[in-house]
Amino acid sequence: MNNPIGIFDSGIGGVTVLKQILKLLPHENYLYYSDSLHNPYGEKTKEEIFSYVDEMIQFFLEKNCKAIVFACNTATALTISDFRKKYPNLPIIGIEPAYKMAHDFSFLKKTLVMATPATIQSEKFLALFHQYDNQNTILLPCPNLAKWIEKGDTFSISQFLEKNLPKEEKIEVVVLGCTHYPLIQNEIRKVLGNVVFYDGGNGVSRRLKSILEEKKLLSQQSQGMVTFYDSSASLQKEKRFYEFLRKEL
Ligand code: DGL
Repeated sequence: MNNPIGIFDSGIGGVTVLKQILKLLPHENYLYYSDSLHNPYGEKTKEEIFSYVDEMIQFFLEKNCKAIVFACNTATALTISDFRKKYPNLPIIGIEPAYKMAHDFSFLKKTLVMATPATIQSEKFLALFHQYDNQNTILLPCPNLAKWIEKGDTFSISQFLEKNLPKEEKIEVVVLGCTHYPLIQNEIRKVLGNVVFYDGGNGVSRRLKSILEEKKLLSQQSQGMVTFYDSSASLQKEKRFYEFLRKEL
């Protein structure tokens, strides 16, 4: 069974998830869909995001994908439960901010959660936050940060971090609640010092593996491959995506 796994984000940020999945599942084929035409999702409505994601799912179904990974915290937070109802037979796995992981491994430490405004305001994230709240956490919505990372706008990224990261608070743990943010860990460390990072990529990878095992859908081939699509048909995006993928691996 060599049908691909569909994986998407509002751009190339989901490469940070794919690289973790590849470590665990190197024998699978992947179709990565970068919806850069509609980036950023973090400032869009639930209805808008639903319609973009639905189009990508149609695309994946036409390509016979056996499972779909939401490599986008924002899309997971706002739409995943609706899509699970809409496609009850399709394995759908979604990333979410690794706040439980911070709770399990760094309990009581001063924690900063960075995510898009849409993720931070979502019912799904707030339920997770209240369940694991260590009473020592700052929630930081980061409007447009994913957009600047997507564009490689290093000036706006540094300006945002310098202005908005809470320097006086002695942050020890940072939850990267958007899949674009692991790409700027160095820039975050420049402002906050030597913090510990958590992101949801590992959790998604393990969940994907266990679902494929359970449904007997694991690939038997020796080596898988990654195919890239971009909704704005940008060759530059494709180049950056493969550069990040090679670097990350
Ligand atoms: N990378 C996405 C996330 O994990 C979306 C960022 C955006 O488009 O605003 O939330």
